[in-house]
Amino acid sequence: MELTEEPWFSVLIKSMLKERGLDLSQYREKCMKRRIDVRLRATGAHTYPEYMAFLKKDPSEYDRLFDTLTINVTDFFRDKIAYRVIEKEVIPELLLSKKKKGMKIIRIWSAGCASGAEPYSLAILFHQILEKRPGDFLISIYATDIDKKVIEKAKMAEYEAGAVSKVDGKILNRYFNRDLKYTLKEEIKQMVKFKRHDLISEKPLSHLDIIMCRNLLIYFSRNLQVKLFNRFYEGLNPGGYLVLGKTESLGGDAAELFKPISIRERIYQKR
Ligand SMILES: C[S@@+](CC[C@H](N)C(=O)[O-])C[C@H]1O[C@@H](n2cnc3c(N)ncnc32)[C@H](O)[C@@H]1O
Repeated sequence: MELTEEPWFSVLIKSMLKERGLDLSQYREKCMKRRIDVRLRATGAHTYPEYMAFLKKDPSEYDRLFDTLTINVTDFFRDKIAYRVIEKEVIPELLLSKKKKGMKIIRIWSAGCASGAEPYSLAILFHQILEKRPGDFLISIYATDIDKKVIEKAKMAEYEAGAVSKVDGKILNRYFNRDLKYTLKEEIKQMVKFKRHDLISEKPLSHLDIIMCRNLLIYFSRNLQVKLFNRFYEGLNPGGYLVLGKTESLGGDAAELFKPISIRERIYQKR
């Protein structure tokens, strides 16, 4: 977009906050502009003013813009090695330390959970590990996202064949019912509680043992990232874990708050 159109970008940001509660001022501008341009092209608008006029005429376009801006791409066991480190290192350590303290409750937060593949993958891991020790631990996984539509989809726990195509065959057979779609079994569904939550404007969850916030912070400004790392630190129990996406990193002062468990897989532990 040309510089002369810049004020329209601010106007658009303000109306998106007003119309759909999405505060784009905290997101990386370049990234957001690229996504908005997708909607400009789709609606045949050549400039922001033209696009704003379109939004005024057809306010349902705000929904399509919201969908384009909140990138909901996800996958079960996304980055397999990260999940292997969680399975082989994080969970055993966590269970051991809980046992030593005589504690049973384990609280996990998947922040920016999209359609649920991430929290359900974690639920499956915990279920596999604890299946032979029923009653030893109580696992609560809280999964949140700003997008109400994906939260409703996640609650249904129904997935097309393509969405589970990379899931290990044994896991598919054990944890999914297969009909026209693949639906997670009740024992996994009931481990996860979904809720709409905006990471920017709402208070974070607390008393957590693991926070998964993957492939979302990349869209946020560096300032906001640092703010959120501090909030995550506060929300974690002593020794709690923070899992970021493969292309995200702590950096700056935030790095002091956590010690790396796997730098490659972006898994950290609260100091
Ligand atoms: C690319 S997906 C990542 C899904 C999952 N964590 C993964 O790694 O597979 C990013 C998700 O973050 C959500 N999101 C964007 N802004 C958010 C915000 N301010 N608060 C909470 N969730 C947000 C989007 O709706 C989207 O579902």
